[in-house]
Amino acid sequence: MKALCTVQVEEAKGTLVPGLGRIVAMPVTSIRAARQGDEVELAELRALLWSDETVEQHGREVQKLIRSGMSGTLPAVVLVAIAASEGLAGFLEVGLRSHADGCDVEQPVGYVEGWFVREEFRGRGIGKQLMKAAEDWSRARGCREIASDALVDNLESREAHSALGFEVVDLCVHFRKGL
Ligand SMILES: CC(C)(COP(=O)(O)OP(=O)(O)OC[C@H]1O[C@@H](n2cnc3c(N)ncnc32)[C@H](O)[C@@H]1OP(=O)(O)O)[C@@H](O)C(=O)NCCC(=O)NCCS
Repeated sequence: MKALCTVQVEEAKGTLVPGLGRIVAMPVTSIRAARQGDEVELAELRALLWSDETVEQHGREVQKLIRSGMSGTLPAVVLVAIAASEGLAGFLEVGLRSHADGCDVEQPVGYVEGWFVREEFRGRGIGKQLMKAAEDWSRARGCREIASDALVDNLESREAHSALGFEVVDLCVHFRKGL
């Protein structure tokens, strides 16, 4: 079904996005950096991925991220996939981290903080195009590696990561204890 969804990568209006080159194709779906005006839709998508926060909380966070281009003290970007006339089909948030498990400690890495494609758009190559744009963004900032994570039982995400060339570094269980 991928042929139904050719993808164009473009720069956001007024936002310089080094590393996101143009791929010439029919603009059925395009990938660009999120810009002001995307916050409401992005907050809804984020809440579908991370349901532990409200849409309003996501709205505030994503607004800050879009305005500053930073997550904490490091550069970050929200990449969005636009489905022609149907709004946002998905998003990927990527930022620099000083280190990530399994990666060279001497180099910063691009880290995939969130990756989501609306259910009705899955399996058409949109997630892959978002990931490619994240790799380009990271490469343009000197990264030689990109890292990510998924819950152990999220087999869909694990399969998609593997299909796109990610290797499993480790599987981890987190603990807590009230004091
Ligand atoms: C993970 C996700 C973003 C992938 O988006 P997508 O648009 O469906 O992905 P694509 O169609 O571009 O597929 C990318 C690759 O992954 C593979 N893939 C995707 N979903 C898969 C699945 N469920 N099982 C096996 N392989 C899968 C595809 O075959 C493709 O590989 P190929 O290029 O070799 O054919 C999407 O499934 C999603 O939003 N899942 C719910 C949220 C989530 O779990 N996000 C990740 C959090 S860590």
